[in-house]
Amino acid sequence: VISLTEIWNPGLVLGDPLIDEQHQALVAMIVELDQRMSDSSYSQGAIDAVQGMMAYAATHFEDEEALMAESGWPDLERHRTLHAEFMTRTNDFSKDARVDGEWASLDMLRYLVSWLLTHINEEDREFLTWLRRTREPDGSTTA
Ligand SMILES: [Fe+2]
Ligand SMILES: [Fe+2]
Repeated sequence: VISLTEIWNPGLVLGDPLIDEQHQALVAMIVELDQRMSDSSYSQGAIDAVQGMMAYAATHFEDEEALMAESGWPDLERHRTLHAEFMTRTNDFSKDARVDGEWASLDMLRYLVSWLLTHINEEDREFLTWLRRTREPDGSTTA
């Protein structure tokens, strides 16, 4: 069982309040999923948690991509592909679970945690660093 404090750390805060809040909520949902899956390998509660996490991820990706589009981020299409791959892969895990009647739980959790943390830390950080420089070319800071 993983805990929120094990995977969330202040280094993952990128400086955009909405994006940061959504990232933390996504991590919390994965922790919740882990807890529900450890209660029972295959349960309605765990299915609901996966569905809820995917719905929230879709909303987050839309918000993030909208921010990228409106700011003119040149790497939007590649980033969009990364988001789409995550949704496809997670959906596959979820469907496999329904067919087999049990979760490939460790594989799925490992994937979710490692994808999300790496994505925030590298891909989303790259965008938000660019955004900050674009908005404040002199490097000054604002609230
Ligand atoms: Fe992203
Ligand atoms: Fe993100």
